[in-house]
Amino acid sequence: VTGARHRVVVRGARPADGARVASMVKALAVSEGKAPGRFSSADFARDGFGPQRRFTCLVASRGPALLGYAIYYPAYDAATPSHGLHLLDLWVEPDSRDGGIGSDLIKEVVRRCRDVGGTWITLHVRRRNAARALYARLGGASLRLLFLAIEGEAFTTLAAE
Ligand SMILES: CC(C)(COP(=O)(O)OP(=O)(O)OC[C@H]1O[C@@H](n2cnc3c(N)ncnc32)[C@H](O)[C@@H]1OP(=O)(O)O)[C@@H](O)C(=O)NCCC(=O)NCCS
Repeated sequence: VTGARHRVVVRGARPADGARVASMVKALAVSEGKAPGRFSSADFARDGFGPQRRFTCLVASRGPALLGYAIYYPAYDAATPSHGLHLLDLWVEPDSRDGGIGSDLIKEVVRRCRDVGGTWITLHVRRRNAARALYARLGGASLRLLFLAIEGEAFTTLAAE
């Protein structure tokens, strides 16, 4: 059976998807001008499926082939008060773009959020990323925030104070 005879399905990732997802995580980093990073199938298994789950991963598959993935985790807003999901990563393999797979991954994140009582999703996007057009089409509105991190030496120092 050739790949063309399968349709694209968005489903929850399985531990066995780790090697493919890890290679897509690296491709996303490189596409953003960063180093590929060290995310491995062991990290995927531990942090996606271990006793302390840090994220949930969805994959877009066509038969046995994985064409894209999304990673999200729970988020909360005290002011509203309400909960939602934060979409961390979104990636579709270059050859499979512009066919709606990215939109399908986002829609599945939104449905899963709604199904557990959530009312919004958030995501970060670089100012010059072409994906902004897609997010705008899906109703994404800028919160006009700066995204800061306290990490490395600053983190270690603060934690020791
Ligand atoms: C963003 C991305 C996941 C969209 O996947 P997709 O399957 O092409 O999505 P859809 O087919 O549902 O939507 C296509 C839209 O994505 C946007 N897009 C197209 N090429 C893109 C690219 N190279 N990078 C980012 N967005 C792109 C466009 O708005 C396009 O709509 P258009 O054809 O009307 O211009 C995919 O392009 C990708 O993996 N890009 C690189 C990684 C990235 O930027 N991820 C988001 C980080 S916040």
